[in-house]
Amino acid sequence: MRFTDIIEKKKTNQALTDEEIQFWIDGVTDGSIPDYQTSALLMAIVFNGMDERETATLAEAMMNSGDVIDLSCIEGIKADKHSTGGVGDKTSMALGAMVAACGLKVAKMSGRGLGHTGGTLDKLESIDGLNIFLTEDEFKKQVDEIGLAIIGQTGELVPADKKLYALRDVTATVNAIPLIASSIMSKKLASGSNTILLDVKFGEGAFMKTVEDAKKLASAMISIGNRLGRNTMAMITDMNQPLGNTIGNALEVEEAVETIKGEGPKDFTELCMCAGEIMLMQGKVADTKEEARKMLEEAISSGKAFEKFLQMVEAQGGNVEQIKNTKLLPQSKFVTEMKSREDGFVSNIHSMQLGILAMHLGAGRATKEDSINYAVGLKMNAKKGDKVSKGDLLCTVYHDEELKEDWIEEFYNTFSFSDTEVDAIPIVEEILK
Ligand code: URA
Repeated sequence: MRFTDIIEKKKTNQALTDEEIQFWIDGVTDGSIPDYQTSALLMAIVFNGMDERETATLAEAMMNSGDVIDLSCIEGIKADKHSTGGVGDKTSMALGAMVAACGLKVAKMSGRGLGHTGGTLDKLESIDGLNIFLTEDEFKKQVDEIGLAIIGQTGELVPADKKLYALRDVTATVNAIPLIASSIMSKKLASGSNTILLDVKFGEGAFMKTVEDAKKLASAMISIGNRLGRNTMAMITDMNQPLGNTIGNALEVEEAVETIKGEGPKDFTELCMCAGEIMLMQGKVADTKEEARKMLEEAISSGKAFEKFLQMVEAQGGNVEQIKNTKLLPQSKFVTEMKSREDGFVSNIHSMQLGILAMHLGAGRATKEDSINYAVGLKMNAKKGDKVSKGDLLCTVYHDEELKEDWIEEFYNTFSFSDTEVDAIPIVEEILK
């Protein structure tokens, strides 16, 4: 096989065979295909796309480029969920505990945050001692025994994706649905769960800016999952304002804990309940949405969801006292109340900008090498649709250094107001399967 023929084929908008795709990914993995040839093929895919078969073949070839976790030694259906990333997204912690308390086995590998989006691993590490580096055997044992583990990647998963993503990043070829879908799904497939729930976010703070694009990405990922024998579903959810009320690591752990105790914010609680319903049905723990919701409500009201989170923290060496009393989590030196300068209804909150402002406080990383300050962040006191008067509290800032004038101005620029009532938007736009 000559790689130039493969590039030529995609350039002229023809579908690649499974063998050609496998040849490409083998060559990416062992380094025998040079970056300039892969870059040319990536650009041809950006322009001419891939059909469902090609996209699934690409995901499967990428999955097989490295270690593939085998969870078959754990009895029952193993469930995973994935969010395409957002601002204030602490879903994995709360949802994991809620569904595991209902009897589902959750084997979750999470990532770190970069730029305006946070990562579950960073949030969990705000709990003293919590170890996200379990071995594969420890991971399996924990999922088997307590039904819930959230860890960083074990082994070498999908090395082809690391190489391809680095190239895409510098050749303006990130934004192509077959490439994004195969990249995300190859990692989900390699982590071994039987069911996958995708939370595909749209809006200002998300990777996909419109509902239409989010749906296209979700459909491409569902097609890959189902073709490769995984029960895969997706929620299309709104990221036009931060999820829940908090942005920042320890603050988000606290909010996740409040939510599994039934005291969380409405939008975040609703997202977790919807996701929980789907996961419990995928995992055959419940037959209907109504039955699943009842189970989730019971898990919260009985304290079982909270108990499950405590079990996970303890199993991973974390300080459970900080979960029993979240005031023991890292606390910032300063707390500043940001008061509204205007009267009106909150019509827009630029979530991406707020994510960047939280990053500047130290809650996130501008580059992969940056370290994180777990204590700092933002707590929203007003959300879209709320009526506020001049002087009302908009947001509470937790910080370790004095706030600079331009930070404060940028903060106020993230809010827009309207004289007329603004409809509060539903958090879950649609469910796809
Ligand atoms: N996230 C991924 O893992 N891959 C992409 O291509 C885009 C976002």
